[in-house]
Amino acid sequence: MVLVSGSGTNLQALIDASADPAYGARIVAVGADRDGIEGLARAERAGITTFVDRVADHPDRAAWDASLAETVAAHAPDLVVLAGFMKLAGPAFLARFGGRTVNTHPALSPAFPGMHGPRDALEYGVKVTGATLFVVDAGVDTGPIVAQVAVPVAEDDDAASLHERIKTHERAMLVEWVGRLAREPWTIDGRRIRFHPKEQS
Ligand code: GRF
Repeated sequence: MVLVSGSGTNLQALIDASADPAYGARIVAVGADRDGIEGLARAERAGITTFVDRVADHPDRAAWDASLAETVAAHAPDLVVLAGFMKLAGPAFLARFGGRTVNTHPALSPAFPGMHGPRDALEYGVKVTGATLFVVDAGVDTGPIVAQVAVPVAEDDDAASLHERIKTHERAMLVEWVGRLAREPWTIDGRRIRFHPKEQS
């Protein structure tokens, strides 16, 4: 299950990877918090079931959160991937899918959490930034880290060019590690993700 809010290039990378059965993960559905986005169109073109659950269609955030959790649960996903999903997972969602929901963030956590990772990194003047795949918790981009990739900042970067460079690496990281999360047993030990090699038979 993948949740999106925007252009869906990370989703597309997962759609392309999962075309190979050896990848080990299949996208059971794609959900969004808004209509008319390219992310949903990408899913539809790939023949994947989609749904939209908008905050504005509920009396409050808590009702939306509970509804999203229900809708996602109806598709019985093993893993939920937030790929450019611009909403925080709420308590009802985390009660059901905490520990098996991952999100990707375009910065090297714990630096520059929030909506403007590339811009904030640029303004701070760092020379290296990147992307982080993490298990979602109740904080903003704070959960246990699955993987990170470093990306250099160029002298003439603006926020858009830096974000585009990060996204190229972010997609590759997402595909590699979502595949591992799907294929290999793993546990969360404090803040550390541990993969457990399968027993040889
Ligand atoms: C990604 O950089 C993601 O980390 C950030 O928004 C971007 C989404 O891109 N939150 P896309 O919709 O997958 O193209």
